[in-house]
Amino acid sequence: MIVGCPKEIKPQEFRVGMTPNAATEAVAHGHTVLIETGAGLGAGFDDAAYIDAGAKIAATAADVFAKADMIVKVKEPQPAERKMLREGQLLFTYLHLAPDPEQTKDLLASGCTAIAYETVTDKSGGLPLLAPMSEVAGRLAPQVGAWTLQKANGGRGVLMGGVPGVGPAKVMVIGGGVVGTHAAKIAAGMGADVTVLDRSLPRMRYLDDVFGGQFKTQFASTGNIAELAMEADMVIGAVLIPGAAAPKLLTRAQLSTMKPGAALVDVAIDQGGCFETSKATTHADPVYDVDGIMHYCVANMPGAVARTSTIALGNATMPFLLALADKGWKQACEDDAHLLNGLNVHAGQLTYYAVGKALGIDVLSPQLALKS
Ligand SMILES: NC(=O)c1ccc[n+]([C@@H]2O[C@H](COP(=O)([O-])OP(=O)(O)OC[C@H]3O[C@@H](n4cnc5c(N)ncnc54)[C@H](O)[C@@H]3O)[C@@H](O)[C@H]2O)c1
Repeated sequence: MIVGCPKEIKPQEFRVGMTPNAATEAVAHGHTVLIETGAGLGAGFDDAAYIDAGAKIAATAADVFAKADMIVKVKEPQPAERKMLREGQLLFTYLHLAPDPEQTKDLLASGCTAIAYETVTDKSGGLPLLAPMSEVAGRLAPQVGAWTLQKANGGRGVLMGGVPGVGPAKVMVIGGGVVGTHAAKIAAGMGADVTVLDRSLPRMRYLDDVFGGQFKTQFASTGNIAELAMEADMVIGAVLIPGAAAPKLLTRAQLSTMKPGAALVDVAIDQGGCFETSKATTHADPVYDVDGIMHYCVANMPGAVARTSTIALGNATMPFLLALADKGWKQACEDDAHLLNGLNVHAGQLTYYAVGKALGIDVLSPQLALKS
């Protein structure tokens, strides 16, 4: 197969769909890898690294799209890219079609087959191609929160770990899933006094068993959140109710009960945010002030650490990418029901029920798409 990887063109996107390591593996499996020149630069991989890996360099995205049997990307294809997709071509990337009727229409019109990273599943019910980005965002949250707490950045002027004789920062993490667990581990590692709140007792049992010495757990009742907010130097929002907007867990009125200069890091902003006063910000201007409380609400946090994020995503996508290239999408999806769950579009038809429901479009069952 010819596996093509164009440069990402969405604003502020520095990740790339294939690392040189992924290229090495695909070439070792007998495939041709075609990378657009400069595609990896944002993540610190120059053309020479891909050439060393055995890949070929294409001068333009048009060249990649014209020649490749499979296109591997990070972000959903932008309008100019969608025009270059064709019937029979396989697209493997994040799509997030449910809120995006324009993209859906274009993908259906292209006739391509599209497998979305975000709906591929694993046997424990997780989302293996979303998890690495949650790990990155979770680990980044205390780092950006610590920066926000510095006086010059509008914060309280509190050091995460304190110093001998001065207590550490108090950090409340709401939501103890992938983001919350990684955030809590890093905050605790920085020496902060960390409490994780969740509504799932099994999850809190797990966290207590594994991390009992490093951070505390509490049930995420309204009362507990209100009480801990008054004490907190930093609150990290990390909740998720799958398929729904994030619940608002701190109101504007509660901000006046908090310590002036406390930091709110709303990682759940990509689902609308879990604080009433959250609104999405960008890496260019990430923090704003509401009633003396500093808000960090960047919706694509992993972009700040494009190299780590690219490698983490590449590790997770690699086995699927190789299966798709080695066997073709039909056989790969027939052999792996979790990969089949990633199938969103095939030959002009939607094949993912939640997207069809959200957009009011009829859906062809993915099993039938395999037989088409
Ligand atoms: N901003 C970014 O760049 C970025 C990057 C990655 C993920 N995210 C977002 O971070 C959020 C968390 O993702 P995740 O992968 O950790 O999800 P997850 O499913 O692993 O964890 C979510 C947790 O929230 C808990 N929860 C649900 N409702 C709650 C409530 N009312 N109170 C307390 N806990 C509650 C669940 O029990 C679960 O443990 C999602 O919205 C995700 O989209 C954002």
